Amino acid sequence: MTTAPESSNILDLFKLGGKTALVTGAAQGIGFEIARALGEAGASVIIADMNPAVGEAAARSIGATFEPLDVTDADAVRALAAKLDALDILVNNAGIVRNVPSEDISDQDWNVVMSVNVTGLFWCCREFGRKMLAAGRGSIVSTASMSGLISNHPQPQSGYNASKAAVIQLTRSLAGEWAARGVRVNSVAPGYTATPMTILGLETPEWKETWLKETPMGRLAQPREIAPAVVYLASDASSFVTGHTLVVDGGYTVW
Ligand SMILES: NC(=O)c1ccc[n+]([C@@H]2O[C@H](COP(=O)([O-])OP(=O)(O)OC[C@H]3O[C@@H](n4cnc5c(N)ncnc54)[C@H](O)[C@@H]3O)[C@@H](O)[C@H]2O)c1
Repeated sequence: MTTAPESSNILDLFKLGGKTALVTGAAQGIGFEIARALGEAGASVIIADMNPAVGEAAARSIGATFEPLDVTDADAVRALAAKLDALDILVNNAGIVRNVPSEDISDQDWNVVMSVNVTGLFWCCREFGRKMLAAGRGSIVSTASMSGLISNHPQPQSGYNASKAAVIQLTRSLAGEWAARGVRVNSVAPGYTATPMTILGLETPEWKETWLKETPMGRLAQPREIAPAVVYLASDASSFVTGHTLVVDGGYTVW
């Protein structure tokens, strides 16, 4: 049985002082802004990314620490979980896309998308989640995507879309398993966001035009606009929310 948090002021519920947060894939893009926002809310932040060249500098710039991590390496995830004293917040953000027509995609391209976006995310939930369950508290937030709810076009990315639908369903499944033991599991589902991942699309006129036309707000998100949703789901402000996927897409999925 969990209990409701006590607070005299609603804004206090969003504060993360005294908490430790680990964000995967936070060397750049959405993950970096999530890490920055969690730090601004008071958390001690660990950036865990497979790119140390960018990740170490990113961590330094926001007073976070850096841990090299490839989320697809189950042994490495296990070792990092064993190394940390405690973890209050896990943000599963590492993700990749392959824009290849389904009839042409290689075994390798299919497998790497599933391996990072689904299996690696699950390794992190399992290893860090086990620590949280032992402590009787924790909040896991995954970066899903609107692609788990709709099928993007005109670019081909069936594997990515399927992987993000899996993230949404894993969120619900783990939330149900772990709710009574104090661990909440939620996701955010961003729409198109201006990061290195979307550079190719913005440089391809047909993609860019469709993306903007089909987003009611008529623009891409800035990565900073995704972060507050994660702070909410990571914090006690969402103490009765679990298994939820919070869509942050400028209205894309309403059409
Ligand atoms: N940009 C968008 O439009 C958009 C929209 C919806 C969802 N998303 C999701 O948001 C997340 C972040 O995307 P982004 O746009 O910031 O991407 P990005 O490519 O800018 O950054 C991804 C980060 O993940 C890291 N990474 C990749 N594979 C990894 C692995 N195996 N282990 C550890 N780190 C790894 C990279 O080094 C990089 O730092 C992804 O899960 C992505 O699917 C992005």
